[in-house]
Amino acid sequence: NAGLDELFKAKGKKYVGTSADQFSLNNANVAKLVASDFGQVTPENSMKWDAIEPRRDGFNFGGADYLVKYAQDNNKIVRGHTLLWYQQLPQWVKDITDKAELTKVLQNHIAKVVGRYKGQIYAWDVVNEIFEESGELRDMVFTRVLGEDFVRIAFEAAKAADPAAKLYINEYHLESASGTKVTGLNKYVKKWIAAGIPIDGVGLQGHLGGANPTAAEMKAGMELLSKSGVTELAITELDILNAPADEFVKVFEACLDIEMCVGITTWGVSDANSWLPNDSPLLFDKQYQQKAAYKAVHDLL
Ligand code: XIL
Repeated sequence: NAGLDELFKAKGKKYVGTSADQFSLNNANVAKLVASDFGQVTPENSMKWDAIEPRRDGFNFGGADYLVKYAQDNNKIVRGHTLLWYQQLPQWVKDITDKAELTKVLQNHIAKVVGRYKGQIYAWDVVNEIFEESGELRDMVFTRVLGEDFVRIAFEAAKAADPAAKLYINEYHLESASGTKVTGLNKYVKKWIAAGIPIDGVGLQGHLGGANPTAAEMKAGMELLSKSGVTELAITELDILNAPADEFVKVFEACLDIEMCVGITTWGVSDANSWLPNDSPLLFDKQYQQKAAYKAVHDLL
């Protein structure tokens, strides 16, 4: 019985993936499902700045090394996540006020992290959640100190450290064609690509349901972004409140319909290890059994 990753690949896509890290992979139930249904892993926390460079130029690669080795040993591709984010960012970075200093710190961070895994990462979420809902750049240390330039600095550093990796802008609430966030991001991406910034893809996180967008809105957002100048789109952190089967099916259909969509990553394997412990948003339940949404997606594929 073929798993989701194998079936999605048979339809021309690159992967179905999940977030993971040493902590979750040590759970035999999780590891078994990663083996059967997922061909790609994203480190849930181990590559974030607070985990990997807690002190200036003091790196801790333990968790990230574990994840990358696991991927190699088990024939999974890796999406690196993430090089620049305003959360899980150490205070020492937030406290920098000098432009030249923050530029150096950002370049060093990216050169060391991307350089360590050169040739081993399919795609990097170079920047994460850099937009406000208004579609303007988020008010955070990188914008305050460097202005819009932080985007060029980050992408150029990543490109220099691993020229073959696909470089992404990752964001939530893009799942709509008309919202101010998606239209603002679309405008910036066009401008940045025209200015020679090496952006390959946009990642739509895809935390859906409840007050968040629906799968239909997500498809409309992907259609808009497919004309932004990027060559790839990916759904990078999919989970849906209470996991309605028809919504999960619509997300997979949207990725199948939009050629540029390379793959889908769910943010975790089972409801037992979701970052949203009360939402039951994933494809496997707390007992690691297939849910209705899993079966519906499997039938679709
Ligand atoms: C979450 C992790 O799942 C949690 O374990 C952690 O405590 C907080 O971050 N958007 C992202 C992800 O880009 O990195 C976040 O992951 C979920 C929201």
